[in-house]
Amino acid sequence: MSQIQINSFQDYQEAYQKSIENPSLFWGEIAEHFEWNKKWDNVLEYDWQKPETKWFVGGKLNITENCLDRHLATKGDQTAIIWEPNDPKEATQHVSYKELHSRVCAFANVLKNNNVKKGDRVCIYMPMVLELSIAVLACARIGAIHSVVFAGFSATALAARINDATCTVLLTADGGFRGKKTTPLKDIADEALKECPSIKRTIVYQRTHQKISWNTKIDTWWHEELKKVDDDCPAEIMDSEDMLFILYTSGSTGKPKGMVHTCGGYMVYATYSFQNVFQYKNNDIYWCTADIGWITGHSYIVYGPLCSGATTVMFEGVPSYPDFGRFWEICEKLKVTQFYTAPTAIRALAKHPSEFVTKYDLSNLKVLGTVGEPINEEAWHWYDDNVGKNNCPIVDTWWQTETGGMMISSLAGITKDKPTFATLPLPGIQPILLDDNGNELTETKAEGILAIKYPWPSLARTIYGNHERYKNVYFSAYPNHYFPGDGALRDAQGNYRITGRVDDVVIVSGHNLGTAPIENAINEHESIVESAVVGFPHDIKGNALYAYVITYNNVEENEDLTNEIRTLVAKTIGAIAKPDKIQFVKGLPKTRSGKIMRRILRKIASNDISNLGDVSTLLNPEIVKSIIDEKL
Ligand code: WTA
Repeated sequence: MSQIQINSFQDYQEAYQKSIENPSLFWGEIAEHFEWNKKWDNVLEYDWQKPETKWFVGGKLNITENCLDRHLATKGDQTAIIWEPNDPKEATQHVSYKELHSRVCAFANVLKNNNVKKGDRVCIYMPMVLELSIAVLACARIGAIHSVVFAGFSATALAARINDATCTVLLTADGGFRGKKTTPLKDIADEALKECPSIKRTIVYQRTHQKISWNTKIDTWWHEELKKVDDDCPAEIMDSEDMLFILYTSGSTGKPKGMVHTCGGYMVYATYSFQNVFQYKNNDIYWCTADIGWITGHSYIVYGPLCSGATTVMFEGVPSYPDFGRFWEICEKLKVTQFYTAPTAIRALAKHPSEFVTKYDLSNLKVLGTVGEPINEEAWHWYDDNVGKNNCPIVDTWWQTETGGMMISSLAGITKDKPTFATLPLPGIQPILLDDNGNELTETKAEGILAIKYPWPSLARTIYGNHERYKNVYFSAYPNHYFPGDGALRDAQGNYRITGRVDDVVIVSGHNLGTAPIENAINEHESIVESAVVGFPHDIKGNALYAYVITYNNVEENEDLTNEIRTLVAKTIGAIAKPDKIQFVKGLPKTRSGKIMRRILRKIASNDISNLGDVSTLLNPEIVKSIIDEKL
């Protein structure tokens, strides 16, 4: 597969140029490096008025033949997945391509035995055990559509997702281990299923051996089912544009959006971007710390790495257990070469003494990555100094559930990184900046609304069951462009820096202020770990700014510090951006994927706490009450 790898800056420039001048030729050549049961008739057909996008039209394939079967001859005994348990006393597991192929086929036969057919939706609500990857691939093997729901979601959230996609089978576990906690997944699933008439069968994997209740009508044990099958399961031949999976992401309204990804384009782009951004080479050990419940886990733990014949690490636990050195202990033990995590994890770890990092041998690391939110300069340097020892390129990868793969990122060691900048678009990606009226900003150095002006293979094709909403959210604000909802600036060299969601803009005295840059400014203060800024109504200014601020341990939270923060913001952005109110807090309400729930903070700042909405899906629902109690 190395034929699709870019090896120099000049290669990158040539590939980019070609991808713009002749996208169909470019992607057609890349796609030749995959296994197809039938070649496509047309590389691309699209109409963004409708909107409709089709890639490798008429092509037939099965993504699991690309992830598994085709490696058997050359890499059958190579490790495909290294699984690292939550508890370091439990053994690490190495699963070869041959074994993974056999286990996926066996479980695919279990699904068939339980009446799952091509096109059926299967909900997967599981901890980060090997069987989660196996389940995802087994669905893909038989053409069933997987909908993975992160195992931290509540019963209400799970039920809403099962019902939206009318899933017929649920795959879950008795419980899941995460740090010191055990999550009673089966109990939560039972609660959810009271509201889910479409589920006909629940297959339960035994992980924690905790006591669970059992519904003999629909429940069956995973290990019992496996006894009934062999591991011979030919792959279902899929059309390029058949659905591969649904994955829910939150929108600005309450109802989650089931983003639909299809087989051919997703496979090509997830793999192409994986190999180029991380510069994966034979025998590398690649680790992405995301959960498979999120798009990052789908594209860059499972599909991209396995299609590339890579060795990918799957970690069941959390970075803080048994202590704050766990990530680095694993990096040393497994000789990890590429490490990909989220800024929120980096900031959390940076709060603790650096001995947690320095005591481990990280000399195998070649590439570091981040994803999910803008990384502030301090966190970037902490990562660079302590983890990368100033010796590893850092790929800051901007993308979304909707984009299926990384869109703007440096390519490790090939294109230059720049702190806090995602930098340059990948080949095939055509970002532009727009002003508020939708006019393209043509100067290289500019700041505005980010949009993408041409299709790429892994764009989500629709919102499951609601194409109208898909059109409204992504293709209506700026006709003929895909609108991701982020703002960005571009430096004179064409590097992009994502400045944050454009929907988090606050207008203060007629000035548009993005909350993200204000937070960045505050976070630069040496006493501050993290902050969140929102607007609240103000008699004279229209809106004023309210900053929630977390300090390092042992910092005195006094008037002097408040003044220093205001001065710092005034200095960095301007006096207009000075927060009217600054509240010191112990934590910020976050989604499971680590995003700050600004909606809740806005309500608290506005004294509108009677209707905070559902906080049960938060990572830390308890923090909401303490913020309210301590409000100024
Ligand atoms: C934000 C995660 C800045 C952005 C893969 C985007 C980022 C949203 C970055 C998508 C980055 C993601 N720099 N912001 N490198 N990566 N974002 O769907 O606001 O969970 O729109 O996908 O995260 O989040 P999602």
